[in-house]
Amino acid sequence: MNFSKRFSLGFLLCASVLAGCQPENQETQPETGKAQANKGSSVVEGVGNWPKLKPALQRDEKLETEISEVLSRMSLEEKVGQMIQAEIRHVTPEDVKKYHLGSVLNGGGAFPGNDKFATPKDWLALSDAFFKASMDTSDGGVAIPLIWGSDAVHGHNNVIGATLFPHNIGLGAAHDSDLIERIGRATAREVAVTGIDWTFAPTVAVVRDDRWGRTYESYSEDPKIVADYAEAMVKGLQGEKTGADFLRGENLVATAKHFVGDGGTTRGIDRGDNAVSEKELAEVHAAGYLTALPAGVQTVMASFNSWDGKKLHGHEYLLTTVLKERLGFDGFVVGDWNGHGFVPGCTVESCAAAINAGLDMFMVPADWKALYVNTLAQAVSGEISAERIDDAVRRILRVKIRAGLFNRNMPLAGKSGVLGNPEHRAIAREAVRKSLVLLKNNGQLLPLAANQNVLVAGDGADNLSKQSGGWTISWQGTGNTRADFPGATSIFEGVATAVSAAGGEAVLSVDGGYSDTSFVNGKAPKVAIVVFGEEPYAEWHGDITHLEYQRGNKKDLALLQKLRKQGIPVVSVFLSGRPLWINSELNASDAFVAAWLPGSEGAGVADVMFRDRDGQVRYDFTGKLPFSWPMHTYQNVLNPYHDNYEPLFELGYGLAADQESLVANDLPETSELHAGGGLEEAWLLVSRPRAPWVLNIAEAGAKAVPMHGNYAASGGDENIVVSSIDMSSQEDARLITWKGLRPGAVQLSAEYMQDLNVYLEEKSALTMNIRVDQPVDNPVMVAMTCGDDCVAKVQLQSALQSMPQKDWTRISVDLQCFVNAGADFGKVFSAFGLESEGPMAIAVANVKLTPEAAVSADIQCKG
Ligand code: BGC
Ligand code: BGC
Repeated sequence: MNFSKRFSLGFLLCASVLAGCQPENQETQPETGKAQANKGSSVVEGVGNWPKLKPALQRDEKLETEISEVLSRMSLEEKVGQMIQAEIRHVTPEDVKKYHLGSVLNGGGAFPGNDKFATPKDWLALSDAFFKASMDTSDGGVAIPLIWGSDAVHGHNNVIGATLFPHNIGLGAAHDSDLIERIGRATAREVAVTGIDWTFAPTVAVVRDDRWGRTYESYSEDPKIVADYAEAMVKGLQGEKTGADFLRGENLVATAKHFVGDGGTTRGIDRGDNAVSEKELAEVHAAGYLTALPAGVQTVMASFNSWDGKKLHGHEYLLTTVLKERLGFDGFVVGDWNGHGFVPGCTVESCAAAINAGLDMFMVPADWKALYVNTLAQAVSGEISAERIDDAVRRILRVKIRAGLFNRNMPLAGKSGVLGNPEHRAIAREAVRKSLVLLKNNGQLLPLAANQNVLVAGDGADNLSKQSGGWTISWQGTGNTRADFPGATSIFEGVATAVSAAGGEAVLSVDGGYSDTSFVNGKAPKVAIVVFGEEPYAEWHGDITHLEYQRGNKKDLALLQKLRKQGIPVVSVFLSGRPLWINSELNASDAFVAAWLPGSEGAGVADVMFRDRDGQVRYDFTGKLPFSWPMHTYQNVLNPYHDNYEPLFELGYGLAADQESLVANDLPETSELHAGGGLEEAWLLVSRPRAPWVLNIAEAGAKAVPMHGNYAASGGDENIVVSSIDMSSQEDARLITWKGLRPGAVQLSAEYMQDLNVYLEEKSALTMNIRVDQPVDNPVMVAMTCGDDCVAKVQLQSALQSMPQKDWTRISVDLQCFVNAGADFGKVFSAFGLESEGPMAIAVANVKLTPEAAVSADIQCKG
């Protein structure tokens, strides 16, 4: 299939994207807060170029009548139950029956019976049990089949023994939508074996800042590729919408996620804020929806991110006006993991606002019972209208009926042999071959002759965990061993097979060492293949502050250089979930292959790298970059749609093996974290807390109280109160008052630990505006927390005492002071906290980590 011909989407014109694009990470520095106040003006709802789409499937009156009939028999309790999705670690079939729950999911790293090695039969038994419970009417309720959702995002990746396809970023390099459809079909078949009905895929994010930890879940930075693939994957997973077996039999229900703008958050921060214009939101970030919806995708997952400060889970305009009305979506909107809890005024246990905005099903893993009770009460009181409840349940029933769940018939259920079968593995291997992008090939070193001594080095060479990445058996892809990948092939194993078949010998040596006896013929290696790259990660944990590979610890570079010094030609195979700054590693390699995260079929690498025993090329390098590759470390947002496009390798680059390498051998090796040097400052609280940081009131022994709106207080006695006040613009500062009844702190904390070492390296200071409203008679500390039992406190009392009262002053603390007080910057949970031991009133604003500010900090410390 000719790839370029398939892109004929009239509304996705690059020209219009170009015109509408602003570099996302160039939000101007609001020292006074003014830029912030004006920012909203670029984002006016209703001016976007959303096309008017017809519903993918024509309205079916018979179906609607059937739904009405079911609805008319349901109690309000049953309706609310349908709108709840709980997680298998926290819900039993008994609960499903009792509360008439509409859905369950298995989160990453959740298995039947908590057993990682649960067999396909165990999965099926649990899904049967849930299904039966949902259809059990012994309590007089209406039988409505439960739908089970799972993250089959690169194959059925939660189940041991499944085929693991390359992660989406690698597929983006293949430029082959027919392949994507076949992968979708194979994935659906493997999922069907376990009795699961629904996958939370495809991710159709269009990534802008490659520091985002979910970059590899995106097919490309190019909205055209995402649009093309979204359609193909939905068809592969669900079947053709006109087909008799659409959503049934060997097919699944798919999800387009995460609606919308997940890939465009400022600084690539997961669950952060996307601040682009509506035009750009529609034309770039929604590109995948504009094709997935017409292909008939039945569910859409609301995103964790916000658009211009407003959380998607509570965004009525985007969920209802745009998605359901304008884009004609008649399936249901599922929330993301407790995502409703971040909507202002909501908690995980109560959130009428999300349903009112257009969410149809809550994903509420653990706290589903409380949410059920509260939602029911809100439905009774009218806070959620009867019409909204009926509409949500109608949508859920529509999908369930369309998918044939009422007459459950799963032809593949229990057919364990389908999981990881040779035919599916062959598709995955083909995908690996097509995903490899040849970046450098000096002297046309590749493809290699196979009948020679080949040394295979690097800690990624025989490492299935590393070659599979996140969302593999466990959530982050960590903690897996060889035993977790039965039937899979590592890159080394593939090389060894190809080489020995041609009469050569491949030897594995992770550290690159060898001796006279390493090879049977006693000779030295003729070539070294070094496989290295990122450790597995997934959402949150995978966000990084800069794109430099192995900053501060270039151990793989050292390995390349060591082999090179011995006169051995070096081929690098780089495993990564995103482009990274690797100029030094490129300089130290003769040939360089970007292999992304290939998954279980590592043999696909050798297929392309080695000739056959007759010296013939077996497969050409055809992969083309789905993401632009940076020339400088600071090129976090780099794509042809933005200004200053000066990549090392442009979008679509990729050598064929017979092409002369165009790469210089002396690429600049000075890493600049920011254009013109330095590192950009980190915003912790600038007008509002900046993701990943959330403002919390923490009192010993009590649950932290998050501040979502403009007021929060601890305890019933308001011991600590935080309120938004104005410094330079509306509500850009926070006033903290302590009554001094109990000790406690006000903190900016993150849900997962953050690596802030680079700010330490760049001699940063914690800087903020501060206003003291009351004499400081007690110790006041500024604190950081990190890892377990790690709190580092710096005394502020005397600095505060010397400040003018009731007036704003800027104060800075050298980060080294926190290190001296015991901080580990690799594991920061709270980057800023204020604690007072007695009554106090302090206001803060513009809290940042400012690079190179340590030398002039008000409070300095020696390293
Ligand atoms: C779950 C994942 C989920 C994540 C969300 C984890 O504990 O296992 O499936 O995506 O939490 O934060
Ligand atoms: C992720 C989703 C995923 C869900 C269920 C969330 O944390 O953002 O992509 O589908 O968990 O595991």
